[in-house]
Amino acid sequence: MILSNWMASLLAGFVAVQAAFAIDITVNDQGSLSKAAKQVATDMMNYYNDRDSKDIPGKFDGTWWEGGSMFMILIQYWFLTGDDQFNAAVQEGMYWQKGDDDFFPSNYSSYLGNDDQVFWGLAAMTAAELNFPEEDGQPSWVSLAQGVFNTQVPRWDTSTCKGGLRWQIWPYQDGYQTKNAISNGGLFQLSARLALYTHNQTYAQWAERIWDWSASTPLLKEKNWNIADSTTPATQCTDHGDWQWTYNYATYISGAAYMHNYTNGTESKWKEGVEGLLGTSEQFYPTKGFGKDDGSILVEITCEAIEKCDRNQRTFKAYFASWLAWLTLIVPGTSDQIMPKLQTSAVAATKTCVKDGHLCGIQWYMQASDGTDGLEQQLAVLGVLNANMVPLKNAAPYSSDNGGTSKSNPNAGTNSSNTNTLIQKPITTGDRAGAGILTVIFVTGWVVAITWMIRGG
Ligand SMILES: *[C@@H]1O[C@H](CO)[C@@H](O)[C@H](O)[C@H]1NC(C)=O
Ligand SMILES: *[C@@H]1O[C@H](CO)[C@@H](O)[C@H](O)[C@H]1NC(C)=O
Ligand SMILES: *[C@@H]1O[C@H](CO)[C@@H](O)[C@H](O)[C@H]1NC(C)=O
Ligand SMILES: *[C@@H]1O[C@H](CO)[C@@H](O)[C@H](O)[C@H]1NC(C)=O
Ligand SMILES: *[C@@H]1O[C@H](CO)[C@@H](O)[C@H](O)[C@H]1NC(C)=O
Repeated sequence: MILSNWMASLLAGFVAVQAAFAIDITVNDQGSLSKAAKQVATDMMNYYNDRDSKDIPGKFDGTWWEGGSMFMILIQYWFLTGDDQFNAAVQEGMYWQKGDDDFFPSNYSSYLGNDDQVFWGLAAMTAAELNFPEEDGQPSWVSLAQGVFNTQVPRWDTSTCKGGLRWQIWPYQDGYQTKNAISNGGLFQLSARLALYTHNQTYAQWAERIWDWSASTPLLKEKNWNIADSTTPATQCTDHGDWQWTYNYATYISGAAYMHNYTNGTESKWKEGVEGLLGTSEQFYPTKGFGKDDGSILVEITCEAIEKCDRNQRTFKAYFASWLAWLTLIVPGTSDQIMPKLQTSAVAATKTCVKDGHLCGIQWYMQASDGTDGLEQQLAVLGVLNANMVPLKNAAPYSSDNGGTSKSNPNAGTNSSNTNTLIQKPITTGDRAGAGILTVIFVTGWVVAITWMIRGG
């Protein structure tokens, strides 16, 4: 008794000392970065394990897409640190949510958007590129990414704007009236990565089609390299919602980088795209109005200063930081522009991890606690720590001909109940399950209308 009390107080003292030091990193030092990342990831997984919906692997409370994006960052974490303690949870969640090998599980498919689905596809692509362990009897990682590609391509909508993916999938969703950057940029990036991994030209053709189409709308202005967040079919994609988000830029830059590498640098448009968009991404390192003001700390400029970042937006910097870091390996010569600011950002980010001695905030530029904490805060900081380990590990994404072991299945997801959702396949009862009553009324109305149109036509 006495001995264990003595040990307990010793332990408490040790914890207090740890807390005072919070999280401290030395850039370019693998040991220090690994240690910090482990702390940040552990806290993130504590939030994950504490959620109300913990009986459903991969499903977060109140959101579905973040599961995919969190697993993507955890897969990078495993590859970069060798710490495999979260791998079982990643596999369990990824496989549980795989749907018909297309990450479009019927529990949620009635309200998902193309962007929600593509993040899971990008997680599977990351797993393939990094040789993340596969489980026997399960579809390969790359085939799951192909399943997402195969279900999204039939949604390419030429009835308005001469192409493009709508944000959301079903006519009763508000986002059906929008074509947005992250949905199109997401499929663009996924296609480009599939092209490099499988060397199947079909994926490259789709990547180019999506890029060229985007460039015919305000979503991607090649003239000044501005990326608008959204545009609407109602105006034939001439209007533009101009909020600036890190992940919109990062998804197009990253896709262009994969295409540059896939084409062996023979098509100047991809390098120009990478350089042009890296240039306009400098806006996310502001030199006015944010803390240090020296243009060296990554800021989600649209929402951070006004403290209005929602839970989605709090995660965006994770994708920006990690995708740009991987880019430096496949587009040689970009490192000097990209890495120094990701280093200063990581130092600033970990300085926010002081709540209760270790929980991170979101406003990295404050370099101190911003009073907030949460899974998304941890995710963003883990993303920028991963980014800093990428050049140290210096192993490029694997592909089918340079070490990638995940096996391609170009037909994955094609016999799912979710392909070609727009015209051929009216919504089934299963698709509707879980949607609100109002939605059911809308859907019924839509099915009736379609039925009427088909009969009439
Ligand atoms: C779908 O919902 C059921 C009932 O809540 C649950 O048991 C199952 O795990 C869910 N499936 C997925 C893929 O989330
Ligand atoms: C790139 O170069 C490799 C090796 O020379 C070649 O096998 C491949 O076909 C080239 N890719 C393209 C898209 O031209
Ligand atoms: C493609 O990426 C590899 C690393 O995987 C790199 O060695 C090569 O130089 C890149 N190719 C081009 C054209 O940038
Ligand atoms: C390439 O991908 C397309 C589209 O999924 C598929 O139809 C085709 O069979 C694939 N080709 C090979 C050689 O895998
Ligand atoms: C797709 O086909 C495979 C092989 O025939 C089958 O095992 C699987 O259940 C099918 N999936 C759907 C959604 O029909």
